[in-house]
Amino acid sequence: MATDPLERAREEFLAALAEAGRDAARIEAVRVRFAGRRSGLLRDLEEALKTLPREAKPAYGKALNELKRLVEERLAAAHDGAAAGGPSRSLDVTLPGRRPVTGALHPVTLVRREIEEIFLRMGYSVADGPEVEDDWHNFGALNMPPDHPARDTQDTFFLAGGPLLRTHTSPVQIRSMETMPLPIRVIIPGRVYRRDSDLRHSPMFHQVEGLVVGEGVTFGNLKATLEAFVHVLFDPRLAVRFRPSFFPFTEPSAEVDITCVLCLGRGCPMCSGSGWIEILGAGMVDPRVLRACKIDPERASGFAFGCGLDRVALLKYRLPDLRLLFSGDERLLRQFEGAR
Ligand code: DAH
Repeated sequence: MATDPLERAREEFLAALAEAGRDAARIEAVRVRFAGRRSGLLRDLEEALKTLPREAKPAYGKALNELKRLVEERLAAAHDGAAAGGPSRSLDVTLPGRRPVTGALHPVTLVRREIEEIFLRMGYSVADGPEVEDDWHNFGALNMPPDHPARDTQDTFFLAGGPLLRTHTSPVQIRSMETMPLPIRVIIPGRVYRRDSDLRHSPMFHQVEGLVVGEGVTFGNLKATLEAFVHVLFDPRLAVRFRPSFFPFTEPSAEVDITCVLCLGRGCPMCSGSGWIEILGAGMVDPRVLRACKIDPERASGFAFGCGLDRVALLKYRLPDLRLLFSGDERLLRQFEGAR
């Protein structure tokens, strides 16, 4: 039996707190009733101290302090328990959950993988090389000696001390020929860099390069390969057209057009009314390039081709603007959710 008011308060407090359980609002009500600054029971008990006779004060004061500490500790623990999992007014468990945002593959990744698959089926392997290149692999071995004018067109980022950011994927041709036994059939996707930035150019973009070297490889093989590639990637109805061109590392060289994928050759703004769009550079590997890689041009020949992966992605997915690809805009990326 608790006759002492402090003992009675203690029992009442513990009972009220037990009854409140893990309900945050009821715990708060217990706090106000016992420890509230203005009208809490503890405050009343403190007031009562003043009216006690002198000799009773020390014992009462000590007991009151112990009670205060107990109330404080138990309230803190009860609040923590409620936050950790008890029912609370601010959480409505009947509401539908928030859907986690799932990522989607970038259109450039999608076309890269598709192109890789097409060539893997034709017996190629995927090759890779460094993005920080040396002059020899990016230029010299590709038949662009130090003062060759074609270097100017490459808008190169040079790094301190000599290396550079590769301006095309063609250096991986050289690395493949330096290290792989003949016959070589490789497809080389990758990032490339040029000091060029405007509506149609980004300082970083993607290319994909193909290289076949072996005995008796011909220009006819190149044409058949590119036709098969374009038919699988875009549409079997597309025609492929070769125009004579020049690249230092191929001879003869060609620029390759395909029937416009939008208008199928009738003429539209995308192909400037011509019915054709250019997508590739290609040619027979120049004998000087073979020799630079210690391959005898009398015994082996090869073809190579290169194209802009970003442009292919724009054509394939009918996107209007290169900058969309590098904007990181989630609204664009979400449209490719579920794509392979
Ligand atoms: N490397 C060339 C460029 O970046 C593209 C290219 C053209 C690659 C012709 C080739 C090729 O392999 O045969 O402009």
